[in-house]
Parts: sequence; structure tokens; C-alpha cells
Amino acid sequence: MEMNQPAGPNAIDENRHGMIGWPMDRVDGRLKVTGQAPYAYEVKEAARPAYGYLVEASIARGRISAIDSGAAERAPGVLLVMTHRNAPKQAAFGPIDMKDRFARAKPHLNDTRIEHYGEPVAFVVAESFEQARAAAGLVRVSYAADKGEYELKLNLAKAEKPKGGGGKEPDTQVGDFEGAFAAAPVKLDARYTTPFHIAAPMEPHASVAWWEGDRVVIHCASQLLESAQKCVANTLQIPPEKVRIVSRYVGGGFGNKLPIYGDTILAALASRELKRPVKCALTRQQMFHVTTHRSDTVQRLRIGATREGVITAIGHEAWSHSARFDNFYETSAECTRSLYAGANRMTRHRSVALDLPVSDSTRAPGEAVGMLALEGAMDELAHQLQIDPIALRMRNEPKLDPEQNVPYSTRQLVACMEDGARRFGWNRRQARPGQVREGRWLIGIGMSAAIRGNLLQPAKCKLQLGGDGVLTARMSMTDIGTGSYTVFTQIAAEMMGLPPDKVRMLLGDSDFPETSGSGGSWGAASSGSAVYLACEQLRAKLAQSAGIDPAQAVFAEGKITGGGKTATLAGLAGAAGVEAEGEIKPGEMDKKFSQNGFGANFAEVAVDTESGEIRLRRMLGVFAAGRILNAKLARSQAIGGMIWGVGSALHEEAVVDPRYGHFVNHDLAEYHVPVHADVPAIDAIFLPEVDDKTNPLKIKGVGELGISGAGAAIANAVFNACGVRIRDYPLTLDKVLAGLASRA
Ligand code: MOS
Repeated sequence: MEMNQPAGPNAIDENRHGMIGWPMDRVDGRLKVTGQAPYAYEVKEAARPAYGYLVEASIARGRISAIDSGAAERAPGVLLVMTHRNAPKQAAFGPIDMKDRFARAKPHLNDTRIEHYGEPVAFVVAESFEQARAAAGLVRVSYAADKGEYELKLNLAKAEKPKGGGGKEPDTQVGDFEGAFAAAPVKLDARYTTPFHIAAPMEPHASVAWWEGDRVVIHCASQLLESAQKCVANTLQIPPEKVRIVSRYVGGGFGNKLPIYGDTILAALASRELKRPVKCALTRQQMFHVTTHRSDTVQRLRIGATREGVITAIGHEAWSHSARFDNFYETSAECTRSLYAGANRMTRHRSVALDLPVSDSTRAPGEAVGMLALEGAMDELAHQLQIDPIALRMRNEPKLDPEQNVPYSTRQLVACMEDGARRFGWNRRQARPGQVREGRWLIGIGMSAAIRGNLLQPAKCKLQLGGDGVLTARMSMTDIGTGSYTVFTQIAAEMMGLPPDKVRMLLGDSDFPETSGSGGSWGAASSGSAVYLACEQLRAKLAQSAGIDPAQAVFAEGKITGGGKTATLAGLAGAAGVEAEGEIKPGEMDKKFSQNGFGANFAEVAVDTESGEIRLRRMLGVFAAGRILNAKLARSQAIGGMIWGVGSALHEEAVVDPRYGHFVNHDLAEYHVPVHADVPAIDAIFLPEVDDKTNPLKIKGVGELGISGAGAAIANAVFNACGVRIRDYPLTLDKVLAGLASRA
């Protein structure tokens, strides 16, 4: 099915068995908490694996002038030390503008060039992990280092219009922004910055590879199996069907596992050489440089408005970095294209090539940091106009998407703000900052809107109903901790009238039907629609073989009933079983309608006037994101995103050493993320919504909506508490104190 028309009424709407929306526990929860869900590094299929350990470059730009690997080679248990001198020849990086950038060839150890700090320069394989790690410490690498450039802010003059990189058109313009801004009676012109963000999924990147004849089998931590498969094939210059990628369980992705890395490529190469399985896991510290991060950004927001708060001009410019050899850019300004009305508009992205590790998608690429700027600016404008921040947003509610000039599929921003305001007690907020004091603490309330584009990608599913009445579904789709196994089980159980324990969901194998995996919050919608469509086909087949009019067939309790007839699904399947397939493709609906999830975040903070410490006290997100498949999982996703928002407002910041081009705080002791004590009463609510323009399930992505704007609610609450406006994230104590001092 191609999504060219709104989805008509269907069995998911009917929800006869109540499976859709049910806050079902994760079907894989028990396996996970008992340690029986094998993650890539733990799979038992690999007999007698050897262990690989990466040696990373200690310069950011230059060449390897010499490598002495003798001591490592002689170390106990060492089987292989792979460097550029003996690594198998691989394809060159790229091509850079390949449509699926995660499928590009990624050669390792193929030349002496060093393009970023931490780039792998050797791969040591030994009988045990400890032996490999010890020997890795004996590899001596000498470098001829070149001077590199590592700082976005110092190099803005070198910024260029990005080419490719996964975004839409980098620049857009509607009307005459400059003219309208110049003429506006009220103007805001503010520059915001956000630092480097590290995704740091709990499960490190890991691979175990072995060869079955001329075909390599790789269990690895990947969000996108087809991309990983093509990447390995392109790099090793073998056909994709000679690569099988398996990722049954993935411990978090956040975009950081969209690509694969040296652990995968080098395990595959070393395994071929040694003729035995090779496994490799990155250390937490290695992940900071070997894998992708979110670029820091500089953003300029200009908003012009009438004195009544009607926006007449809105402009969002954003700068980010790309690794010099790559072309990714952070699409920070894209959110401004669809959120508020305004006749004259401009967005612009610029990218600066730097000698840093590779920047790429990190949870809600674009919105996550773009909304920190846009929603801060809206709060500043509201303050300037002396209009309530919610009222300002309502005054600029567009009828059509103001850039695409098409209707929204659904848009409940106003309802989210109203509902959240009521639940949170927004009416208790004092408009003038610094009014609520509790001893040395100043208390404030802030809000921000949330928007995140909704996506649908191609996906296929194959079902097999067995004579035992068990329905098995196969897809290459991954579950990166989001709950894919569970929501697809709910869809199939609902459609077929089977108890969930009669549904077997097999995911995470590139031998299974092709999907677009997990990314961009499109996973549930895309692969879930494929499950739904396959079930429709299976229902038709079963109805036909039972001699029942499909329009009258009812599927319940493992049986099909209709027209006075009844048959068990197990009986109809018989010994041979019945198979069915479903396929979803995006179509016209995402061009005819602007599709986004919306929400509103509310935060209450206390600011210590003596130390500058900020304590988040309460937080609430109210979202509207289409139909909700599983109330508990959706809430968990939203809360997870909001906690990222807490991190981006208050904690997270990777710091580059401008002399050497590395992240100084490259572990979770020094790269701060919110801990339990930083996350007090927090809740997320989804308003009822059904979006028939998105996909047959009428759902939207929920994963990334939670982070898109959440941090700005906290920054706005800090301003409301103490009158200090911090435009450089994160809001650390030093910045609060400086602000308080300059106010005094
Ligand atoms: Mo997402 S940052 O596209 O996994």
C-alpha cells in the first residue's frame, strides 16, 4: 500500500480486542531483566571467539609516520595486529552523496591519513579481551601532525551552504523577511548556542562477526540493518547478499547507531583473516570519538511583531559543523518552518568543515536544539510584549503550514497548551520575573511548545500462521529499546484475534523482509503498518479458505466466525501453514499535508540566589501524536525525551580541547547527564488523536517529540524565577551567578 489517500475506517479503529492503546508490559521485558536477551556482544552462536580491541589515533589531523607493533604482536595470546600496513584493501569512503548515507563505504586502516581524534589506527585481536586490551597498549604509533580547526564559533566566516547531509532544502524564504523585520514595531534579535551532545546509548557499539563460506554474519548494535548490510558490502566490496546483519536486541540508539563503525568492519575483516569469530565492543570512552555526536550550534533568531504580538517576520539561521570529509549538518531551523504563522519568513543553515569526529543525527536531529533557540526567543518576545507566552503562541497559530502552504494533517498545539496550563497551574505564574521567593530560592514557571516532523518509510512484513495456531512475523526492523516487539505484537494480536502469547515477533535480521529500521521516530509507523497490512492479507486468505465473506468475518479467540460458520485459525492453517505479506510505502499524503507531532512542556524550577544552582521541581509534557499504540511505552518514550531536555538545559556539554581536537570529558563521569536526583515529578500525557493522513495505523512518531522543545521550558522557567536569560546552553551555575550579579 502506498500512502496516497487518507486511511479509511479499519480494524485498528474498531479495536475489538482492546489491544491497541493497551499499556501492555514489554513482551521482551522478562528476557531483558533476567539477562536472557542476548545483545550483540553476548550472542552464543559464535564458537571460540577471538577478541578485538581498537587503538585510537591520539592526534586529530595528520599522518601516521610509523607504527611499531612488534611488542603487541609478541604479547601473550595475540593473534593479529591489523594496521594500515596489513589491513585488506577496502573501498574508498563514500560516495559522499549516496542517498542512504549510512550505506556508504567506511574503510578502516586503509591509509596513513588521520582525519579526527580517536580514529582507529590499529586493531589488536587476541584470545581474550584482557590480552587484546593489554597488547593494544603496546602498539606505538608516531604521527606527523597537521594543524587542525576545531571550533565552530571561531570559524563561522568559513561557513558554507551545506550540500546533502540528510536535511531538506537548507535555505527557505517566504515574502520579504528583511524588509518586514526592519519595519516591525517590536523586534527580537538574539543569538543562542548549544554545545556538543553525545548520544551515549547504554549498550556500547559492539559486533561479533564470523564467515560462513563467503558470507559474513555480523551481530552488531544497529538501528538500520539494511544500511549496515550495504555499508559492510560496499566497504568490503562484496555483494550485499553476502552480508547478514543481526541485531535482535539493541540497548539504545538515539541516532548514534544509524551508522556502523570500526568494531563492525574490523571484526568482519579480522574474522576472515583468522578464520574464526571475532568480537569487539567499544569502550565508553572510545564511543565519544569513534562514533557520531551532535554538533554544537550557533543560532540567530529574529522575530518581528506588531505590538499586539502578531508575528510579521520570523528568521532562523543556524550554524553547525561537519567532519571535514563528510557533509552532515544539524537541521536546527527546520522547526521554524512549520510552527508559527508570519507572512515573511526565512530559514538558513550553514555548515563549517572542522577536523572533529563525525557529527550526525542525535535524537531529534534539528528540533532538539533548534527548539531551544526558537522557544527561548518566543519567551523573550512574550516578555518584551508583556503578553502571556501561551497567548503569544495562540495569537500566531497558523491555519496552513506557513511555508509549505498545505493543511496540517492534525495540529493540536493549542489543545496541548491549554490542557497543560490547566493541569500544571499556569495561572499561578507571575508574569514579572523574580517575584516568588522561598528563603534563598527563587521559584519560576516556564513553558515551551514542541514540534517534531512525522515520517513514514518503506517496510515489509511476512507472516506465517502455523498449524499450532502460532502466528510468526518476520521483519528486519529493530527494537532499540523503544518497544517495537511489544507494539507489533499488539497490532497482530488485535488484527487476528489471538492472545499475545500466540504471536511470535522475529525482528533484527537482514535475512527477514526489508524495513527502514529504527530512526527519525518512523519505526512504529512504518514497520507497524507493514504488520497491519500483512494481517489484512492473512485475514482475507483465511476468510476465503473458511468460505466466509471477508466483510462479515470476525476474528476472535483464535477463530474466524461469520455467516453462521466458524473455524479455528490453527485448523485453517493446517500442517502446511498459511503465509501473508504486507508492504507500506510513503505516498502523496506527506506532500499534501504537513505532518508533525505537537506538544507543550511546562517546568517549575528553583534557583539558588547564592550558588546559582537550578533545581527542576516539576515537569509536564502534554502531547498529541496521533493514535497511541501502547499508553505505557509512549509515556516512557516521552518522558525519556523530556529528560534529554533536562540534560540539554542543565547538564550536557562535551568540551573540545581547542589544541588537540578531542572531547576532554569523554566519559559519563565528566559528561554530565541528568540522574535521578535531577529528575523530580515528571509526567507526560497524550491527548486523544487519530491521524488518518499518516499511515493506516493513524499514528505518529513519539520518540523524538519529547525532547523537541523540552529544555526551553526549563530555561524559560529559570528566567521567570530570577530574571536571568541564558542563551548559551547548558544553564550552568556560573552563568546564573553572572546573570544575577549583572542584575543586582
Ligand atoms: Mo534518530 S536521531 O534518527 O535515531
